[in-house]
Amino acid sequence: MSNILAREHNVSEIIISEDKLKNRIQELGKQITNDYKNKKLLVIGVLKGCFVFMADLIREINLPCEIDFMYITSYNKNTISSGVINIVKDLSIDISGYDLLIIEDILDTGLTLETLCTLLQTRKPNSMKICTLLDKPSRRKSNIYADYVGFVIEDNFVIGYGLDYAEEYRNLPYIGIYNQNT
Ligand code: IMP
Ligand code: MG
Repeated sequence: MSNILAREHNVSEIIISEDKLKNRIQELGKQITNDYKNKKLLVIGVLKGCFVFMADLIREINLPCEIDFMYITSYNKNTISSGVINIVKDLSIDISGYDLLIIEDILDTGLTLETLCTLLQTRKPNSMKICTLLDKPSRRKSNIYADYVGFVIEDNFVIGYGLDYAEEYRNLPYIGIYNQNT
């Protein structure tokens, strides 16, 4: 690869291009638009990783909806989830009666989302579904599954389009494999 930009340092392979992301997100938006007619849709982004995907997805949802965010971190500092979550920022509205669509960047072990969904369920939403851009089912350690999946990927650590490695690379416009050998 010639002419490597600083932000692309450590990308060993681009697995999902900008075009592929755009097309798939249009499809997901259509599907969600069909499924949520006459519902009280509240789209909840799980920060930080969701923000690029969510910004593009909501513009493909052709329905009235509200938006909120939760910022959670896993207590485990390395690349493996612990399932113990720290709520840095909670939702700003009462979710009872809403049809929740939770937006995640990636479903890996599923431990983070399982904990989060259990918590949100106690707040009595009307319904709750999960939309994840990426799914790594081979790593699942919980029974959780996503109702809407952008792309199923293999067990590689990926970066870009909101996903980070040590807080960097979120601004890559595509999904790439992080090269851990440099
Ligand atoms: P889980 O609890 O293992 O499902 O962890 C999900 C969270 O771990 C995601 O929201 C990401 O923040 C992070 N994560 C898991 N896999 C990757 C990856 O391949 N790249 C970047 N972040 C990841
Ligand atoms: Mg992360």
